[in-house]
Amino acid sequence: MGARGPRSVRITGWGRYVPERILTNADLEKLVDTSDEWIVSRTGIRERRMAAPHETTATLAAIAGKRAIAVAGLEPDDIDLILVGTLTPDYWMPATAVLVKEAIGNTRAVAFDVMAACSGFVYAYATADAFIRSGVYRNVLVIGAELLTRFLDFSDRNTCILFGDGAGAIVVSASDEEGGGLRGMELTTDPDGAYMIWLPSGGSKSPPSHETISRGEHFVRMEGRETYRFATRTLATSALKAIERAGWKLEDVDLLIPHQANVRIIESVSKGLGLPMSKMFVNVDRYGNTSAASVGIALAEAVDSGRVKIGDKIVFVAFGAGFTSGAAAVEWTADPVNGHRADSVVPEASVRAPLDWDSVDPIPERLRALLASREGPQVPLDDVVPGEPEPVHRGAPA
Ligand code: UT7
Repeated sequence: MGARGPRSVRITGWGRYVPERILTNADLEKLVDTSDEWIVSRTGIRERRMAAPHETTATLAAIAGKRAIAVAGLEPDDIDLILVGTLTPDYWMPATAVLVKEAIGNTRAVAFDVMAACSGFVYAYATADAFIRSGVYRNVLVIGAELLTRFLDFSDRNTCILFGDGAGAIVVSASDEEGGGLRGMELTTDPDGAYMIWLPSGGSKSPPSHETISRGEHFVRMEGRETYRFATRTLATSALKAIERAGWKLEDVDLLIPHQANVRIIESVSKGLGLPMSKMFVNVDRYGNTSAASVGIALAEAVDSGRVKIGDKIVFVAFGAGFTSGAAAVEWTADPVNGHRADSVVPEASVRAPLDWDSVDPIPERLRALLASREGPQVPLDDVVPGEPEPVHRGAPA
């Protein structure tokens, strides 16, 4: 543990990973009463990613994390603290960050999860900054990772069209150089929204049982319109507060990287702030809403696509269940060219499975039927985690 704080706290690495399999609006038309036209016009989403059976939140997080570490020019063991923002952990316990630590080959970090729903990445970034600024740690790996397709009711058109899987990561480091990095931050928590986006069962209030499952209480529920209203208002006010704390004016901002929930929300924030859409980063059309992963994926994509250069003033802003919101005004200091270092990281991660337990098929039944109908032979949709023990409790293989 160090005692003295650094001169500045900077983002030195970034990385993202999304699963290969694409789930299009046309696919969802086969599952629920919806249309590509409705989804595109109401949300801007055209497709989202869906994790393969052997992937979990920890494997997605580990790949994005390894890429961010490579881009920062560090080794996994240089990381002192690993924070994973997620609302779709591999297990209730241990924390997903613990599994990520082992999967990336780190032997010395402290690791824990940050649960702030879609604001998780920004909350974790704020936590990383505080630990580094106080002199406790020097290098922190911040990851937002979600595997939402396993928590959705694919017969509920209000939710299943919105969300997707993926992970985004950054390395946040102490710097002996003056200036740059995080300049202003705003976090809010508003319990009025506690039941606007929620997952009813599985916790102490309603432990899982046959009954909770038959009621579908293990799936995400959402009041779309209320959430929409909160989102448009809070994204703008939180972003403005962070900009003000940084001592910037709105017109100084080069790029705003908002949580990717709905392009109409992003357009409304653009209008409300008077910041042109050319300064708003949008990729919701390709990934849908990836919750805590969304800002991290968007940031890495923005840097790698040449939208960010050294000295740029950028703002991350997210909102989500709780309601929570978080905004960060950041002066970019890393050379975007370093992004190519991520190419050396293979998109694979292995998370050790327990020895005396095998998991059941993780793919929701309706998705499984859809995938079986649209494609020819493929890997069996049961647990195919490399190295996982042979199933013992199932009958004939699927
Ligand atoms: O990370 C935070 C997570 N959540 C969000 O950010 C969500 C914020 N909310 C939204 O993005 C929007 O409210 C939605 C995209 C969820 C819904 O859009 P909307 O324009 O607010 O639609 P609505 O809920 O007012 O529904 C309009 C109509 C309804 O039919 P009636 O009652 O007018 O007959 C819905 O039943 O659209 C119907 N509808 C659909 N129709 C076709 C709802 N979902 C669908 C669907 N396909 N998937």
